[in-house]
Amino acid sequence: MAICPIKAIVIAILSALAHIQIVQSRIHSSSDHLHQALIRKSSIMLEPYIHQLNNLKIVLASSSPRRSQLLKSIGLKFEVIPSNFDESSVSVSKFKNYGDFVSELAYKKAMEVSDRLREENIDVDLIIGADTIVAINEMVLGKPKDEEEAKEFLTKLSGNTHSVLTGVAILSKGRNSRFSNQTEVTFSKLTPEVIAAYIKTGEPLDKAGAYGIQGKGGSLIEKVSGDPFNVVGFPLSAFCTHLIQDVLPHDNLKHVLNN
Ligand SMILES: *[C@@H]1O[C@H](CO)[C@@H](O)[C@H](O)[C@H]1NC(C)=O
Repeated sequence: MAICPIKAIVIAILSALAHIQIVQSRIHSSSDHLHQALIRKSSIMLEPYIHQLNNLKIVLASSSPRRSQLLKSIGLKFEVIPSNFDESSVSVSKFKNYGDFVSELAYKKAMEVSDRLREENIDVDLIIGADTIVAINEMVLGKPKDEEEAKEFLTKLSGNTHSVLTGVAILSKGRNSRFSNQTEVTFSKLTPEVIAAYIKTGEPLDKAGAYGIQGKGGSLIEKVSGDPFNVVGFPLSAFCTHLIQDVLPHDNLKHVLNN
């Protein structure tokens, strides 16, 4: 008995839809795997020190969930105490470059937490401060204050290359470390429709430069030159290097570490 043509068409459409769903779920899980693989790969640098580091009381002076996640991915155990430092009290014009500016912000954020803990007689070993800015054509873009400003930022970034700078400060009982790391990011040309759709997701509003590379914003980016984790909000490689070379060997913690 022949299947009537309409039934055949319906069956064809249904099986095509089922196929699309399977492909979508494969794409989804493979990007999860990619994410997991990136995270696993990044946990190796501190491996020889992780046992000693985990004997220390470490504080992350930042409320960014991305930073927490990245630092956890390298095996660090820490407590989050967001800084109350007012970033608008530091003017970029006083610095000779953006790197100095953003590492000063990171330092001030960490110092505010350090002062507060000292007042409360709470003893910690390391305090990590960080701040990320986006710089394009002599302009610094922080977090957009509303959707209108997010649109302005994304329009500036569209079709251009900008710099992402993260400043990091590591305060310890011995030697402190502060540095910045820079990554160049090139955006595709974005139509007003794409910008509007992206803003509607809500993702741009809590992020410097009004985008997140690790989220839906990933598809807006054509090219990254430098540490991609820096664009997420924390330069893992440079952090590990500075921690191992600048802080650990000169810290009063040394005797603690050797116990
Ligand atoms: C960023 O960090 C990486 C890894 O430590 C380093 O090789 C690179 O030179 C740094 N880049 C800048 C611009 O600071």
